[in-house]
Parts: sequence; C-alpha cells; structure tokens
Amino acid sequence: MSIRIAPSILSANFAALGDDIRKVEDAGAHLLHVDVMDGHFVPNITIGPPVVKSIRKVTRLPLDVHLMITDPDKYIPAFAEAGAAMLTIHAEATVHLDRALNFIRSQNVLVGVSLNPATPVCSVQHVLGLADMLLIMTVNPGFGGQKFIPYTLEKVRQARRMIEEGNHRCVIEVDGGIDTETVPQVIKAGAEVLVAGSAIFNAPDPGRKVTELLEVARSVGYDRGYV
Ligand code: DX5
Ligand code: ZN
Repeated sequence: MSIRIAPSILSANFAALGDDIRKVEDAGAHLLHVDVMDGHFVPNITIGPPVVKSIRKVTRLPLDVHLMITDPDKYIPAFAEAGAAMLTIHAEATVHLDRALNFIRSQNVLVGVSLNPATPVCSVQHVLGLADMLLIMTVNPGFGGQKFIPYTLEKVRQARRMIEEGNHRCVIEVDGGIDTETVPQVIKAGAEVLVAGSAIFNAPDPGRKVTELLEVARSVGYDRGYV
C-alpha cells in the first residue's frame, strides 16, 4: 500500500491550467484529479471530454476522473477515449451500479465507485470486487473549499475493514476538505489516495503544498507500515 496525492484541478487557474498542472507534477503528485459536474447530480457545472483530452496532452500524470453526473454510463466511452486512466462514478447516480462498473472495466480504464457522505458504506459491499478504488466523499460533492465532515472518518474505517475482510485489492480515496490538519486523520482511518484542491491550488506555492501534504501523510503512514 502506498499513499498518493491527487491534486484536484477544480481550484486551479483554468486560464493557465497547463502551468498549474506542471507545478504539482514537478512536485511529485501521483495522479491528477479531474472533477466533472453536470449541474444535475451536483449543483455546479465544470468540464467535459474535450478538456480532459487537452489535459491528457500536457501531463504524464494518470487522470483520475471523478464523474459527478447523472446517468454516467452514457458518457463513460467519451471520457475513456479522452484519456482518463480511471473513471469514478457515484453509487447514487446510477440505478444499475454493477452493470455500470462492469461497463467502465470494458473500456480498459481503472474502475472507481464513489459515495456521498450520507450514503452508507454497506451499499457498495457487494461491488467492491469490481472496483479498483472506493472514493469516500468527505464533503458533499459540488464545490471546492468546503469543510471536512468528521463522521466520514468512521466510513473510511468501515470501508477498510470491509476491503480487508473481503480480501479485495480496492484502494480508498478521500475527497473534500483534505489539508495538513485532516491528512493524519484520514490516513489513520485507512485512506491511501488523498485528493486536495483548495489546499494545494490556493496556496502561494502549489508544488510546495504537495510536498508538505505528502510529508505529513507519510509521517503517519510509516507508523502504520503503509509506505
Ligand atoms: C468536490 C470535488 C473535489 C474538490 C475538493 O465536489 O469532488 O474534488 O475539488 O476540493 P477541496 O480539496 O477544496 O475540498
Ligand atoms: Zn472530486
């Protein structure tokens, strides 16, 4: 198991996205988290496949594409084609979650499943074997810069137990309100992939903030024998 940092470009400067991406890539970020919002599943609108395609050309980082959209099945091929390395869909956004996860797999990209804060972990118990990653939202999705919701830590602990008991290889990602204060808490609870948007891109030096988050994460992770 290894701890990974996934900067979310939602808080980056969209008029100079390539520059912001380079800063976090040079600093050792592991993934680039791309938030796709449709103004329907969440009350905000962001980007679509053409932007993902353009980002793909300016970075070597794997694109961790978080689909906060209703009926994600319809758009999975377009995002896979645009260059996503991983597609994460919300359990709440599709009626046929099992089918949708298998469909993502068929597109030859990694498979992620996500839960809103209020959705219990047991709702994905039977599909953990189909996923490479479980994204536990630690804020209500839709916006950057929100406050971390403390009860989600218990969900991370539950998910960790469920994954270990089921012998799954699925990793746990957390997203929302992740900063130097909350990193130790989520790592101790069992998270491995840390998404951070405002903490990184609102910092005076985004690259330095990536290094700092990684150092904090690793100092806790080493204690647990993770890294
Ligand atoms: C929220 C998005 C997040 C967002 C996190 O709906 O899924 O990825 O960028 O932003 P911060 O790190 O500012 O909470
Ligand atoms: Zn996200």
